[in-house]
Amino acid sequence: MDIPPLLSERIGQSGQSACLAFWDRLNPVSQARLLHQLQAFDWDQLDVLRELVFPPIATDAGLTGNLSNATTPACLQVGNPLNAPSPAQALARGSLALAEGTVGAILVAGGQGTRLGYAGPKGLYAIGPVSQASLFEILLGKLLGVRRRFGKDVPLAIMTSSATDADTHAYLRSHAYCGLNPAHVFVFCQQDLPALDAATGCLLLEAPDRVAVAPDGHGGMLGALSQSGGLDWFAQRGTEQIVSFQVDNPLAMPLDREFLGYHLLCQADFSTQIVRKLDPAQRVGVVVAHAGTHRVVEYSDLPATLASERLANGRLRFDAGSIAVHAFAKSFLDRVAAIPNALPLHRALKAVPVWDASGRQVVPDAPNAVKFERFIFDLMPLAHRVCVVEVPASQGFAPLKNPSGAASDSPQHVRAALVQHARTQLEKAGVFVADGIDVELDAATILDHEDIGRVLLPGSRIDRPQVVGGEAS
Ligand code: UTP
Repeated sequence: MDIPPLLSERIGQSGQSACLAFWDRLNPVSQARLLHQLQAFDWDQLDVLRELVFPPIATDAGLTGNLSNATTPACLQVGNPLNAPSPAQALARGSLALAEGTVGAILVAGGQGTRLGYAGPKGLYAIGPVSQASLFEILLGKLLGVRRRFGKDVPLAIMTSSATDADTHAYLRSHAYCGLNPAHVFVFCQQDLPALDAATGCLLLEAPDRVAVAPDGHGGMLGALSQSGGLDWFAQRGTEQIVSFQVDNPLAMPLDREFLGYHLLCQADFSTQIVRKLDPAQRVGVVVAHAGTHRVVEYSDLPATLASERLANGRLRFDAGSIAVHAFAKSFLDRVAAIPNALPLHRALKAVPVWDASGRQVVPDAPNAVKFERFIFDLMPLAHRVCVVEVPASQGFAPLKNPSGAASDSPQHVRAALVQHARTQLEKAGVFVADGIDVELDAATILDHEDIGRVLLPGSRIDRPQVVGGEAS
């Protein structure tokens, strides 16, 4: 098979002929596969990416900016009576929005989950400490819980990538969309971008007939949602506010009434949840206020000296840890989706297995490639009004990042956090849980301690591992 002359010329112009290193040795099926991938590339964009490989043309320090005058912004705290508006006002406003059915949600689930090392999309990972429910079952269950309490569906868009799309569709179909009405679920796929050789800027072959690519970051959500018709899909359902959350945090509370209430009462374009960062080494970005705007600085972009700097009161100077739970005015997303390249590309050095000239796979033990990602929080400086809401980590943040046995963010840590959260809610509802017993709240039936009274009387006692709520209760 011959490479079409125009494509061949374009590959040469871009200095990317190395991607054809094995062409003459490929069988026709493999040649067709590689050709298909190369024809789908945006070669102009590839030239831009190549420029980004080599600092100082565009570095992430440039994207982060000078932080010498930056501060931690003022935050509302969930449940703090000193907040203005008050928690009661926020609860009422958030409840009203859910009862009106004007809130939609986006779940980003396109990541490759390389650190976890699970064979399949993270959403399928069985994390329920008692039920073994998957991350999808727990997170989609929360939307069921809202429908049960407020009588309205929450339209849900799920972002996948080439790494997760087919398996996610298959899972949703075989699990009856985890109980959601499929008419209110919209699955859309984000873009892939090539990974480039960190030394040469060339495409890398992850197989003789396949160029290495990776999803374009959670910020790929904006372009992919708009191009797939997702923004119109929300508009058709009367959505006015859209929350977004990540597939690897089963404690995420994107539809928390109080959070939504603050977002609405502050008339924010962009609201975000934070947890107080206590340890400089904690791998979360931080929300900062700087030059009249808010922004999130990713942990990998925050210089170590700034990350560990403390104020006179002992708190970290930058301690508003971003947990990637956001609320957007739909009109804001419409506005920024129309801005070309509203989200900059960040570069990340990663180890990507490649095929060497002798036709063997080489698994590097150090980063050899640059991957490119957009971050959704880079929309923050474009917002006219930002609202930052602090939630206790024990209520809203337990990310699954690392494999079993890791020192942090492992399945054991996440399950322990789910059990602790359930115990706290049960105790609030007057239910006694014996020491050392694993308990879990059924996401679809128990939104918070107020729902527990429907299934367990105050004064009840739990002595065996149990899922509270669900059909059994
Ligand atoms: P992470 O940045 O933690 O990446 O994603 P990851 O893919 O889950 O894990 P590693 O870094 O490869 O180990 C945070 C959230 O953003 C989503 C992920 O699915 C997760 O919910 N995400 C990330 C996307 O949807 N697309 C991306 O391109 C990257």
